[in-house]
Amino acid sequence: QDDKFKKVISHAKEYGYVFQSSEIYDGLSAVYDYAQNGAELKKNIRDYWWKAMVQMNENIVGIDAAIFMHPTTWKASGHVDAFNDPLIDNKDSKKRYRADVLIEDYCAKIETKIDKEVKKAAKRFGDAFIKEEFVSTNGRVLGYQEKINTILSRMAKSLENEDLADVKALIEELGIADPLTGSKNWTDVKQFNLMFGTKLGASADSAMDLYLRPETAQGIFVNFLNVQKTSRLKIPFGIAQTGKAFRNEIVARQFIFRMREFEQMEMQFFIKPGTQKEWYEHWKETRLKWHLSLGMGEDNYRFHDHEKLAHYADAAADIEFKFPFGFKELEGIHSRTDFDLKAHEEYSGKKLQYFDHEDNASYTPYVLETSIGLDRMFLAVFSNSLQDEELENGTSRTVLKLPSVLAPVKAAILPLVKKDGLPDIARKIVDELKWDFNVVYDEKDAVGRRYRRQDANGTPFCITVDHDTLEDNTVTIRHRDTMEQQRVKIDELRSIIKNEVDV
Ligand code: GAP
Repeated sequence: QDDKFKKVISHAKEYGYVFQSSEIYDGLSAVYDYAQNGAELKKNIRDYWWKAMVQMNENIVGIDAAIFMHPTTWKASGHVDAFNDPLIDNKDSKKRYRADVLIEDYCAKIETKIDKEVKKAAKRFGDAFIKEEFVSTNGRVLGYQEKINTILSRMAKSLENEDLADVKALIEELGIADPLTGSKNWTDVKQFNLMFGTKLGASADSAMDLYLRPETAQGIFVNFLNVQKTSRLKIPFGIAQTGKAFRNEIVARQFIFRMREFEQMEMQFFIKPGTQKEWYEHWKETRLKWHLSLGMGEDNYRFHDHEKLAHYADAAADIEFKFPFGFKELEGIHSRTDFDLKAHEEYSGKKLQYFDHEDNASYTPYVLETSIGLDRMFLAVFSNSLQDEELENGTSRTVLKLPSVLAPVKAAILPLVKKDGLPDIARKIVDELKWDFNVVYDEKDAVGRRYRRQDANGTPFCITVDHDTLEDNTVTIRHRDTMEQQRVKIDELRSIIKNEVDV
């Protein structure tokens, strides 16, 4: 698994998808740049989301709020007081860790013991093996599971009660050591706020303390009434937006999975109080369908219902994806009640209410939120698509099987040789197709090598111009995933590509 992840990171660099930020200065931790292909893939994911959420829904509109917001926003939202991570330092190594992550990693190790028992039993019982039955009846496995549950619920309770001394006690009781040095010499646990501060204004005394937004959602809440009045939308309706968010993550690891500067795609759906349960189920299902529509395998997704809820939520679930390092959160669906709008009413002194003509009454709407990290979605798509394939002739190829709708380059146009007028025809095809699709021209190296290069780059089609083209205006179109080749008329190219890459 580790090897697969290393391969993902190096492939992303080698093929111009993701670079470390300011690499010539040895990079900046947990900050990344999207390169020529990465920027296209990211844009295509964003567009795919926007189309599904905004364009396809009459009652959802999109906005683009500023990253800077009035600082009181973050008092009202709870971020100033409650957006913290519990940190612990190791006195010997001087390394800093998230206390909850140390404990979760400890539990993940117990989880691997369960996996081992399951594998052993599967071997022993062969076809007769039913995993669920084994897991629910085997004493040793049940013991492991109980241990995990006890640890995690004690941690959740201590964090909720701000009992940081007990979080430290738990780490010590479990004998958790510094993962790098093995030392068990821990400091007390302290809360650390994740927001980045900055200043607005030139002179030191008149400057105003600001935060870089840690989520895009608040830009939607403060604009709720502006949008509702100008769009004249009736409840239920949604406001969507995509944009940068910033968090001073302490455990910033796993490449673009957890970054300090990242992009979110969020939608707040404003509903009548009391209807939150049905909308919660509706959006859970709708968002899972969106993921499945990309064809990346049903088994790679699962729901995780939260037991420990954020300060704003009355129900919450994650859609988890099977990343190279295991199942992890990809998207959150949160039933946020009227927490945010009520808080903004209180802090701003302005009413944020909706007049319901049917009921002839005003109320503060409840909110159902869907929130997905664009970078995290990028990692899900990219890592799932990267495959090494053994071919029938004994060779192998590396292929990036990106969903065609998301691929940065839809087709590469290749003249078989650099003479006899073939490059001119290939260029003409490029000039025609580029109005509709992102296409490239490639004449370097033997055609087989060019195919491999495009496979590794995720390009769904290669179009080869050869000497027969001069006779009959046909070209060879090669499909990335099947490597099948077809002979088609140049005139047909647009509709063949469109058929595959359009949604
Ligand atoms: N408005 C709700 C909210 O922000 P969240 O669970 O904190 O909820 C939502 O974040 C999504 O944003 C996550 O599911 C994840 O995909 C993405 N995300 C959060 N922190 C991130 C980080 N440091 N780097 C990359 N993506 C992140």
